[in-house]
Amino acid sequence: EAIAFHTSRHYIDLSDLAIARGIEPEKFTIGLGQKKMAIASPIEDTVYLAINAAKKALVKFNISPEEIGTLVVGTETGVDHSKPVAVYIHQALGLPSNCITYETKHACFGAMAAMTSSGDWIASGRAKGRKALIVAADIANYAVGSAAEPTQGAGAVAMVVSDTPKLVKFNRDINGYFTKNVMDFWRPLYAKEAFADGHYSIQCYLEAMTETIADAGPNLPNLEEFSACLYHVPFVKMATKAHMRHFEVDSNTEITKESENFTSFRNSFKEKTEPWLNLNAEVGNIYTGSLFLSLINLLTSPNLPLDRPISLFSYGSGCAASMTSIQPIAGYHDWLAQFNPAKELESRKRLSVKEYEYFMEQRELQLGGDDQLKPSDWDVQGDYLYLGNKSHIRQYLNL
Ligand code: CAA
Repeated sequence: EAIAFHTSRHYIDLSDLAIARGIEPEKFTIGLGQKKMAIASPIEDTVYLAINAAKKALVKFNISPEEIGTLVVGTETGVDHSKPVAVYIHQALGLPSNCITYETKHACFGAMAAMTSSGDWIASGRAKGRKALIVAADIANYAVGSAAEPTQGAGAVAMVVSDTPKLVKFNRDINGYFTKNVMDFWRPLYAKEAFADGHYSIQCYLEAMTETIADAGPNLPNLEEFSACLYHVPFVKMATKAHMRHFEVDSNTEITKESENFTSFRNSFKEKTEPWLNLNAEVGNIYTGSLFLSLINLLTSPNLPLDRPISLFSYGSGCAASMTSIQPIAGYHDWLAQFNPAKELESRKRLSVKEYEYFMEQRELQLGGDDQLKPSDWDVQGDYLYLGNKSHIRQYLNL
């Protein structure tokens, strides 16, 4: 029924980063397909991103807090081992006290898992007309100077699921799932940054794609029937690899640059996936929200055919994945036309590489315990910014 997005107020240009690291900029801009990457300052934590996205989703789609009966945050960068990000949103939005509130985790799959359970909650009749608010919120953080450094980002996508949808409906009979214990990407409890076995993680992602398609079986439409194919986007180029695998499984052929069907694959990619990756190229990896950021991009297009399905592939390292399908609803664009996410990104401030490294250093210090942050050092304009800890309790502006 609703969808909205919030990101950090700063970004770094990937050409600047490449030059600083002694790498050809084309490796990041063409090889990975990324232009920019959102950088969170120490006062912009996962709670800040999540609340701001959630608030926009309710306000822009005229949904009253009283209507929300379930609130789930999918995140792999929560702020506490015990207390969920969701309960801060519950307070900030004034949600009813009988709202079921929790956090889900399976790397980038957490929010899709929450969507599925919330859809089932509504379909079971237990929602009794109430709606579910799902927020996918993350700050992707790898070590400075590592191979994964250009695949960071920060942001949250909030969505309302209900039985009175305004944007898209899920095709409930089209589902494929896959789970396997792999060490492709992880963050131990003691680590501030994620570890990734990068090339292996790409293989795991693609294996999960093959397996979810197999699990979805004959109910899954042929690739040609989909008007758009959206994927989890850790970096833009991954969507090309994903669509290639989707195309290979669908056509039961292997694609190489030399093969006959390479042109058909390129055309299919250009029509169904490439146009919806602009926001991802500007924001970077937002983990749980990356797939849904691509969905926002798609819904800003006024001409989606209402009678054709759209595929959604979600992948969470570790790993878990699903392949599902949605369909746009008449009038969807009237709702999306009221906000322009690309325009919102224009007001962000560009950081130099030195400033970015300072942000990273300060964010790390802030994870050190009580009273580490000096809010006076940062631009505290806006709501729900994180002001540091007092007596081990997180403090937020206007919360
Ligand atoms: N001009 C144009 N292209 C260039 C180039 C140049 N000068 N130099 C290199 N390239 C190309 C390479 O050919 C390569 O393209 P292909 O993959 O199409 O062959 C691309 O740029 C990247 O080059 P490398 O593979 O050499 O890059 P790398 O080894 O330094 O690291 C990475 C890339 C593995 C993605 C790394 O950034 C990483 O580990 N990222 C984090 C892990 C990740 O995002 N995994 C994705 C799948 S897992 C997942 O999806 C979950 C999640 O969110 C984390």
